Amino acid sequence: MKDTMDIIGRELVEMTHSPLYEDRVANNSLPVIGAGDLDADVLFIGEAPGKKEAETGVPFCGASGKILDRLLADIGLDRATVYITNVVKDRPPKNRDPRPEEIELYAPFLDRQIDIIKPNVIATLGRFSMEYVMRRYGLEDHIGTITETRGNIFTTSINDQEVTILPLYHPAVAVYNRTRYDELLSDFEKLKDYVETT
Ligand code: URA
Repeated sequence: MKDTMDIIGRELVEMTHSPLYEDRVANNSLPVIGAGDLDADVLFIGEAPGKKEAETGVPFCGASGKILDRLLADIGLDRATVYITNVVKDRPPKNRDPRPEEIELYAPFLDRQIDIIKPNVIATLGRFSMEYVMRRYGLEDHIGTITETRGNIFTTSINDQEVTILPLYHPAVAVYNRTRYDELLSDFEKLKDYVETT
């Protein structure tokens, strides 16, 4: 499992044909492959690394990461027991939205990570991740706006295994908004049903 993830990491490091590669080198940055337990029940998928993430190679370690950490602590889920990654693995310049061609280029790496981790539940963080995952796994007819779709529980099959998809707001929405934090928290509570307590 670790070997296969390491191969993905090496391929991402060497992805010189990515439109985001030049910026990565110019900024002395790193691709963000993902972090956490390769045997996790819960897989969180964000959008793309921000500045701090690209500097460190660690997902969700900036302002959004602080919100994510608080949400995890509030529901009693240890960050070390989940896996956290993004759809796009390099930082889009100036934190612009990822472009469709960037999602298309990086998403196969995410698909391979899902195959390795085999999560019980995939929690998407934000619109880009929700749309990619729901389309990829046969739930395209259920995609609404993030406000309509977040907090709804969907079931799909990945490699003959039943997997729950839970779309969530991106934690960035709660940086300056307490109401959004409470909404995120009530959606996060639903994750507890999918975590094996052994
Ligand atoms: N936002 C994301 O979508 N991912 C990160 O890793 C950090 C911020």
